[in-house]
Amino acid sequence: MTVYDTIGTTYTATRRPDPRIGAHITAALGDARTVLNVGAGTGAYEPPAPPAPPASAGSVQAVQAEFAEFAVFAVEPSQVMIGQRSAGSAPVVRARAEALPVADNSVDAVMALLTVHHWTDLEAGIAELRRVARHRVVVLTWDQSVTRTFWLVKDYLPQAAALDDTRAVPPARIADLLGGARVEPVLVPHDCTDGFGAAFWRRPEAYLDPLVRAGMSMLSQVGDDVLRPGLDRLAADLTAGTWHDRYNDLLDLDEFDGGYRLVIADL
Ligand SMILES: C[S@@+](CC[C@H](N)C(=O)[O-])C[C@H]1O[C@@H](n2cnc3c(N)ncnc32)[C@H](O)[C@@H]1O
Repeated sequence: MTVYDTIGTTYTATRRPDPRIGAHITAALGDARTVLNVGAGTGAYEPPAPPAPPASAGSVQAVQAEFAEFAVFAVEPSQVMIGQRSAGSAPVVRARAEALPVADNSVDAVMALLTVHHWTDLEAGIAELRRVARHRVVVLTWDQSVTRTFWLVKDYLPQAAALDDTRAVPPARIADLLGGARVEPVLVPHDCTDGFGAAFWRRPEAYLDPLVRAGMSMLSQVGDDVLRPGLDRLAADLTAGTWHDRYNDLLDLDEFDGGYRLVIADL
C-alpha cells in the first residue's frame, strides 16, 4: 500500500490536466521522442501518441522504425492511481523512483510532476532520473517560500503549510542534484482544470468541497478534523463578503504565482 492507494481514489474527478500547463511541460520536454513519466499517477501531461505518418513516409520498415523510436512509458507505485489511467495511455510499470526498472541512458527525457515530495529518498530518486535519461529531465515542484504566502494556507489552513514545510523540495535543491538546471515559474490560470493545491486561488468556494480537498495531498493528508476551524472561517468570510474585500486585488488577475516551478535539466 502507498499513500495514494488511500488518498488517490477520486484523483481524476478534480485533477484534469490543464492545457496551458500542459503546453509548458510539452515545451520543456522539447523534441524528446522517448519519454519516461515517473510518479506518473493517472497519466496527466504524458505526451500523446505520435500522429500517423503520412502515406509517403517511405517503406514499411521506415514507418516501423519511426514508431519504434517514439514511446512513452510510465512508472507509478500506487495501484489505485494506475487503475485510473485511461484506456490507451502509456504502458505503466508499478515501481518507485528510487529504483527504476529501466536501463541506463534508455530514454531521451524523464518527467516527474508533483511527485518528488512524496519520495522516501529524494537523492536516490533524482540519481535514478539522471541515470536513465539521455538528454533531459523535467521536474514540476513548488517553491514553498512562495506557496506559504498563498492566502488559503497563510490565513485559513496553516496546518497544510506546516505539512508542506516538512516535505517541499526547493527547486534549487533539485537543480543541484541534477547537476544544474533552469527553473521556470508555472503560473496558475484562474480557471485551471488541474485541481492541485493553489488551483482555486480565485475560486475560494471550491475549497469547501470535500471532493476538491480530496484531490490535494496537502489537505487530504492533514484531514478535515484538523482543517475544520479554518474551513468554517473561510465559509463564514465568503458568506459575509469579507474574503472578497480582503483579496479584492486577486479578482482582476488571470494568472497567479502559487509557487509552482518547472526544473529543466539538460544532461
Ligand atoms: C500528486 S500525484 C502526481 C501524479 C502525476 N504526476 C500528476 O501530475 O498528476 C503524486 C504521485 O507520486 C506517486 N509517488 C509517491 N511516492 C513515489 C515514489 N517513491 N516514486 C514514484 N512515485 C511516487 C504517487 O503514488 C502519486 O501517483
